[in-house]
Amino acid sequence: MPLDEPVRRALIAAAQEVRLRAYAPYSNYRVGAALLLPDGRIVTGCNVENATFGATICAERTAVVKAVSEGERHFVAVAVVTANGGSPCGICRQVLYEFAPELTVIMADEGGRIVHEGALYDLLPHGFGPAHLV
Ligand code: THU
Repeated sequence: MPLDEPVRRALIAAAQEVRLRAYAPYSNYRVGAALLLPDGRIVTGCNVENATFGATICAERTAVVKAVSEGERHFVAVAVVTANGGSPCGICRQVLYEFAPELTVIMADEGGRIVHEGALYDLLPHGFGPAHLV
C-alpha cells in the first residue's frame, strides 16, 4: 500500500533515531526499525547484541515484540535503517509475516535515503503463516 510522503518520512526518521540506541558492540552494525500502526502511531526497535552472538535480537523483532506485548498486532509498514540500507534478515521477514503479510517494507540508509520500498510478500514469497495451521 503506498504511503503518504509525510508518513514515510516520519517512519524513516523514527528508525534513524532509534538506530542510535542500538547495542551493537560486536558487529558495529546498527539497525533501527519503525513499525507503522493503522492509526498512525509508530513503534520502534533497535538491534540488541549479545556476547554469545546467537542471542542477538534484530531491530525488526525488537519492534514487533514491543508492539505485540503492548497489544498491537496490526502493522501497515516498517522502515529499517542501517548504514547502507541493508535488508531485513530471513528470521525477521518471517516474524513480520506472522502479523502483516501485506506489510510495506522500506529500507533506507543512515541519511534516510530509500534503497528499496516494496511488499513483504515479495521478500518472502509463499511464506508460511498462521493460515497454514488452521
Ligand atoms: N540485524 C538486524 O537488526 N536486522 C536484520 O534484519 C539484519 C541484522 C542486526 C543483527 C546484528 O546485531 C547486526 O545487525 C549484524 O548482523
